[in-house]
Amino acid sequence: MNKILQKKKLSADVYEMVVEAPLIAKARKAGQFVIVQIDTDWGERIPLTIADADPAAGTMTMVFQAVGASTHKLAEKNVGEHVENILGPLGTPTHIEKVGTVVCVGGGIGVAPLHPIAQAMKAAGNKVIIIMGARTKDLVIFEDRMRKIADELVIVTDDGSYGRKALVTEPLKEYCSADPKPELAVAIGPPIMMKFCAEATRPFGVHTVVSLNTIMIDGTGMCGGCRVTVGGETKFVCVDGPEFDGHKVDFDNMMTRLRAYKTQEDENHHECHIGLGLPPHQPPAAPAAAPGAKK
Ligand code: FAD
Ligand code: FES
Ligand code: MG
Repeated sequence: MNKILQKKKLSADVYEMVVEAPLIAKARKAGQFVIVQIDTDWGERIPLTIADADPAAGTMTMVFQAVGASTHKLAEKNVGEHVENILGPLGTPTHIEKVGTVVCVGGGIGVAPLHPIAQAMKAAGNKVIIIMGARTKDLVIFEDRMRKIADELVIVTDDGSYGRKALVTEPLKEYCSADPKPELAVAIGPPIMMKFCAEATRPFGVHTVVSLNTIMIDGTGMCGGCRVTVGGETKFVCVDGPEFDGHKVDFDNMMTRLRAYKTQEDENHHECHIGLGLPPHQPPAAPAAAPGAKK
């Protein structure tokens, strides 16, 4: 059980939550995530990135968008209440080194998982350019925190209500065509955004890392639910990732798999209980009586 210490609404459906998690706060590295069960051991398991952590205070921060059953349940929790289980840190940490100039691109809620990576890239001595995109002004999150890290920061919105009216790929292409061009791009956001960021950097030969958000169940490499094709090979996002070379990811296949349970997820706020056994209020059905047996 992890106590909720702070909760803040960042935009229409996006929440920031600080929870007590001393071991995770100490062990986590940039790029890692946790698997959360909100209110029972039988609850759906959802992956959320560790957006920040404070080892001295023993706390970690999650930023999430309420999109379906589990994230809405989490959004309803208040300070002083508990989250049932938080498992982590999971996933392979981001490879951090001084390469020169790094362009960090975040779309929507993707800015939150990008934050610890941008922080670590800056701490390693890189020049950090941050491009943040959102559909509209009200959905821009983490601007102050990103300004503190960035050597240069560009904000774009789809409707032009804040910053420049553009998609993130436009300034990304401009930075890539500059001389000298950046050594590395890191893009995190909706799959379609990451796909087009990878296409934008490909002609310039700028190595591009993306953080994939596939369906996950156990998060430990056992169920295969998170599999993706990268460079023609099958990889598990939970243990081999979540970060991969964006120029090698088969995004179309990944997006098809992400939609696989959409009908069920949309119906009555369905929760996935694969691998969790039967909840306590549903005992296993009694075996059928043998034909002719007396009652
Ligand atoms: P549902 O209605 O069940 O699903 C809505 C959509 O979310 C689905 O169509 C599917 O695309 C996705 N989804 C559903 N179940 C899962 C699942 N078990 N695993 C992965 N995706 C699922 N979201 C954030 O808001 N903040 C984060 O920091 C964040 N980090 C993530 C890190 C990783 C490594 C991954 C894989 C995903 C991350 N996500 C994050 C996405 C988040 O896990 C989903 O939004 C969440 O699971 C939705 O669950 P739901 O029951 O509320 O919605
Ligand atoms: Fe089960 Fe990755 S989530 S193998
Ligand atoms: Mg769900």
